[in-house]
Amino acid sequence: MKTPTRREFLYAGFANTVLLKQGRGSSPLSIVLDPNQLTKFVDRLPIPPRAQSIGSRPSPHDSTKTIPYYRLAMRQVESKIHRDLPTTRFWGFDSTSPGPTIEARRGHPLYVEWVNDLPHRHFLPIDHSLHGAERGIPDVRTVIHLHGGRVPPASDGYPEHWFTPGGKSISFYPNDQEATLLWYHDHAMAITRLNIFAGLLGLYLIRDDVEDALNLPNGNYEVPVILCDRAVRRDGQLHYPVSGDASRLWVPEFFGEAILVNGKLFPYLNVEPRKYRLRVLNASNSRFYYLSLSNGMPLRQIGSDQGLLAAPVELKNITLAPGERADLIVDFKNIRGQNLVLKSDAYAIMQFRVSDTADPDTSSLPASLRSIDRIPEQKAVKTRLLTLGGGGDPDDPTSMATMPMLLNGSHWDDPFTETPMLDTVEIWSLVNLTDDSHPIHLHMVRFQILDRRPFDLFAYLNSRELNYTAAASPPDENEAGWKDTVRADPGMVTRIIVRFEGFVGRYVWHCHVLEHEDNEMMRPYEVIPFS
Ligand code: C2O
Ligand code: CU
Repeated sequence: MKTPTRREFLYAGFANTVLLKQGRGSSPLSIVLDPNQLTKFVDRLPIPPRAQSIGSRPSPHDSTKTIPYYRLAMRQVESKIHRDLPTTRFWGFDSTSPGPTIEARRGHPLYVEWVNDLPHRHFLPIDHSLHGAERGIPDVRTVIHLHGGRVPPASDGYPEHWFTPGGKSISFYPNDQEATLLWYHDHAMAITRLNIFAGLLGLYLIRDDVEDALNLPNGNYEVPVILCDRAVRRDGQLHYPVSGDASRLWVPEFFGEAILVNGKLFPYLNVEPRKYRLRVLNASNSRFYYLSLSNGMPLRQIGSDQGLLAAPVELKNITLAPGERADLIVDFKNIRGQNLVLKSDAYAIMQFRVSDTADPDTSSLPASLRSIDRIPEQKAVKTRLLTLGGGGDPDDPTSMATMPMLLNGSHWDDPFTETPMLDTVEIWSLVNLTDDSHPIHLHMVRFQILDRRPFDLFAYLNSRELNYTAAASPPDENEAGWKDTVRADPGMVTRIIVRFEGFVGRYVWHCHVLEHEDNEMMRPYEVIPFS
């Protein structure tokens, strides 16, 4: 492979964009519904039901104690996403998608028995050329991962530990971590994008005393907001596009025009003129959200992926990459009787209808939420330089759109290279060689973002030399708490600092753009015992 000239490289990037557009456009677009033809804000925002335990079982650590036992069955469900559309087929848990919300308390472990009661045929197009989805492997297979959970390896939902209809697996969740919003979702090798798209996801809240002491809005005043963009056909059914090459159906990313909130299109929520707490999750395959309110009122962010920030951050616009969560406070106090819309850029997502009267608002929004100790860089025993992308041949403009984007040049099946030692601290420098922003997620751990710094991509591709072109910038204020997913932006080296606390064993790290994850942008890592 000869080294590309700057112009060739730019051309490759351009061709890439064109191909991506063609890739999306090659679906029969005429069958896909334009959601703007529907009347907005005619359906009430649904709230996923709360999961109920079906009993208790002996604790794995102390057989004299019992812990709650939940059973959630993955099933095909029918659901109305909009008043004026026929019902839509989803794959959900028990009778809903998103599935029931599990509510846990810190220090109180529980079991979930995940049951696969799905049909034997998939309703979305599987690409059998992807590693892990070869012909002969059952089409319908699932394994559930608790995103953001500090969970022993056997319960983490390793992508190869899938099970088929009739099968089940039991996960033990210690809940030995700070209060935050986690989510559970499918993680089956090479079809995660299809299984999550079909609806296999739900929320998992962890509560603790620190959070309780803050007296934040709760009960009806705490509202989950699960964002998923979908393409919907005129007959109401979900539509997942294919590439147009029958031997390779995979598309490099998915963007749908229909943005569902808790499974509804353009829902509304009646609210009182007071403070609300919104627990927002980006569960989309590829879409980033840029959230704002139509009247220009600020959003106040109090938490991110792994719990509360040190203090509330006031923002007009909140960026949320796939997999990320935002814990928001919105105060409707001064806009009695008005309607306003939660938007992402120009997209209307949902409407709030503020009533004239309210019970007194006794909740608080403290100016300081908790202390967050920064992990000092000197604590790191190892720094890893890990590239994102670079799987294509820059001499071949089409390869960028069809070749996998690799993590550190390695495929899923290559030997383990990231083997941190338990309880040690490492810095991971994510060197983005692509034109895209990749939300990078590590299982089991929480981390802090150190900084992002622009570098000379061309020099790196030419000679593997890392030359920075400007000073490093610290994380945004609303990213300065504990995270489990980080935006690695194009042209940047993004550095995170991680303490590998929890368990030894095999986990994964990956891009949370599900199309990338399914096509080799995922790697195993292994926490090894301290020695
Ligand atoms: Cu949200 Cu590895 O997943
Ligand atoms: Cu990616």
